This record gives sequence, C-alpha cells and structure tokens, in this order.
Amino acid sequence: MSAPRWGIIGTGRIATGHLPCMLEVGCDVRAIASRDPQRGGDLAKSADQDPEIGCTVDDLLRRDDLDAVYIATPNHLHVEQSIACLRAGKHVLCEKPFTPSRAAAERAFEEATKADRLLGEVWTYLYHPQTAWLREIATAGESPGSLIGTLRLIRCDRSHTLVGGPTENTRLSHRMQGGALMDLGVYPLSLMRLLAGEPAEVSATGRFAEPLPGEAAGVDISLSMAFRFPGGVLGHSFTSIEVTEGVTTTLTGSWGRLTTTRPYNPGGDDLTAHLTRFENHPDGPGETKIKAPTGEGGAPSMFRHFNAAMAGDVELRPTPEQTIAEAAAIERINEAIGQRFD
Ligand SMILES: NC(=O)c1ccc[n+]([C@@H]2O[C@H](COP(=O)([O-])OP(=O)(O)OC[C@H]3O[C@@H](n4cnc5c(N)ncnc54)[C@H](OP(=O)(O)O)[C@@H]3O)[C@@H](O)[C@H]2O)c1
Repeated sequence: MSAPRWGIIGTGRIATGHLPCMLEVGCDVRAIASRDPQRGGDLAKSADQDPEIGCTVDDLLRRDDLDAVYIATPNHLHVEQSIACLRAGKHVLCEKPFTPSRAAAERAFEEATKADRLLGEVWTYLYHPQTAWLREIATAGESPGSLIGTLRLIRCDRSHTLVGGPTENTRLSHRMQGGALMDLGVYPLSLMRLLAGEPAEVSATGRFAEPLPGEAAGVDISLSMAFRFPGGVLGHSFTSIEVTEGVTTTLTGSWGRLTTTRPYNPGGDDLTAHLTRFENHPDGPGETKIKAPTGEGGAPSMFRHFNAAMAGDVELRPTPEQTIAEAAAIERINEAIGQRFD
C-alpha cells in the first residue's frame, strides 16, 4: 500500500511537535499550510522535508493529491477548516478540543458523512496502555483482584500558569475560544467521561480574565467543576491557566484509592501509580507504589491508527459519537459558568 498523503494546517507548537511523529509512522507529508507559506516551508525544513511544501490554506484545499489533513490551529478555526477540507474531499484529523458546541460538532460530522470522509479528533492519551488500565480499574467493581473496589469518586486536575507571548494569547482570547476549560480542562473532562460515562449532572464555577483589547468577553482562567456520573459516581476537577496546581487523577473506590500524576503524557518505562488500600480491602490495609503498563502510545500511535482507519482497518478513536459527546459536555460546563462562544 502506498504511504498515506497528508497536509497540515498550522505551524505552531503542536504542529511542530507532531510533524516528526507523522513522518516516523510513514505519513507522506506533502503540504504545510500557513497564513505565511514561508512558515510552512520553515517547518518542513526543520524536519528535513522539502521547504517547497509550504503553502496557503487555499492552495492546500485545491490539491487533489492529499488523502488527509491534520488541523493544528486555534480552537475557533477547527470546525470551519474541517468542513472546508471535508468538502475538498480530504479526511480530517483535527486538534482537540474539536468544538465547544454540540450543534457545530453534529454539523461537521454531517459534512463528513456527505463527503464520505473521516473526521477525527486528536486525543493522544487514548493510545497509551495506561489509559485502558485506568478504565479497567475504574470499572472493575468489587471483583476479585480489583484494586479499588466500586468507583465512588474521581478527582482530576490539570493546570499550569501560562507564560507570556503571542502563542499564549490564543488561550486568553474569547474570540478564539480560549480559556482554561478549552485549553486544559478538556483533558480531565475527557478522562473522567471515559472512566465514568456521560455526566448526569454538571455544575461549575470559575474566575474570568479581563477581555483582551477589542474583545467583548474575557475567558475562564480558573475553573472548579463538579459532576455526578451514572451509578452515583461523583467527580471533581480543578483546571487553570493562571496557577500551577499540577496534574493528578485520583480514583477512590469502596475499598481503595489510586492516584496517578501522568495520565495524559505517560511516556517512558518508569510509570507508577500510588495505591492506598482501605481497612476493608481484600488484601488488608496499606500503601503501595504499583507499576502502570507502559509501551507504545501517544502521537505516533494516533497517526498510525488514523492511517489504518483511512484504510478501513480500524474504527476511529474517539468515535464521532464520543467527539459529539465531548462537545456537549463542554457546552454544559460553559452554560454553568455563563460563557458563550458564538
Ligand atoms: N501546544 C500543545 O501542547 C497542544 C497540545 C494538544 C493540543 N493542542 C491544540 O492544538 C491547537 C493549536 O495549538 P498550538 O499550541 O499549536 O497553538 P499555536 O502555537 O498558537 O499555533 C497555532 C497555529 O495556528 C495558525 N493560525 C491560523 N490562524 C491563526 C490565528 N488567527 N491566530 C493564531 N494562529 C493562527 C498559526 O500558524 P501560521 O501562523 O503558520 O498560520 C499558528 O502557528 C489548539 O487547538 C490546541 O488546543 C495543543
């Protein structure tokens, strides 16, 4: 089979990080689109590719030799650029969060169906073996060998302080659908839903930044979210782009508690989690460090998987239904804090 032919839109931090991963898994990257084609060329050159592949988005859309496009632009551009690529006959893999609007997600997937092309959302942590392991722990109940018993509570935090510079301004721009939830809070939201299902109840409160010059509203910069999941499982998440409270995920069950501090970027071989066994744990009470599964995962696995999905060999991950549910969950939190992205 010939190598899948890719284009990229965007030349920022994540496109720069993902280009080598695409090349590593055999993607034939033929076009890198930017508002300034020179920047596309420079990115190509940085990965030892032909700088002539730098182009504009319109050039990229006109190309008939691309199978797929990876979209790595600010959030407010995701849906419209995805639809433009789908209408131009290309499969699309778009950065997270795809959109904060359920209706917009549904509209984009309708276009994908019409075009008979795939539309996928980038969630690299889904490809790491630790993620499936956490899901097994969360759903095991009080079965033999279960580490925590029946899940009662999930606490998932992700925050770090934005440093200055123009890149960060996209995160502070309401017009560009920035903010703590869209930048970082969507990780805990995605993980909690994967572990516990779609929330039955959502509440949230937050602190907002002053609007950027020329913008009508400021974005959420710190956010506290509370959830009730199916079966009465409770959830809490703190997310922020103004303070660094770190990254942690704690699953508390009827007979134990498991904490991991690297749920989203779990590279390397030294991956551990901390287990607290309560008094009623079948193995007796205690504290232990346990090894989490390691192995291939992250961005290379994601691009390999998408290539296989284009060939019809595997299902999209996340599925369209999961991406729509993600958008719906973001929308509910924004409603709870009175934030609207139009
Ligand atoms: N950085 C990360 O670690 C990370 C991780 C996961 C997901 N993401 C997601 O990836 C997307 C891009 O994030 P990023 O960190 O790569 O952002 P970034 O560094 O700001 O890059 C975004 C790129 O989009 C292009 N762009 C097009 N129109 C733009 C506009 N009006 N304003 C600013 N840039 C514009 C720019 O490329 P040209 O100037 O060449 O046009 C820019 O370099 C976001 O949706 C984010 O949530 C990022």
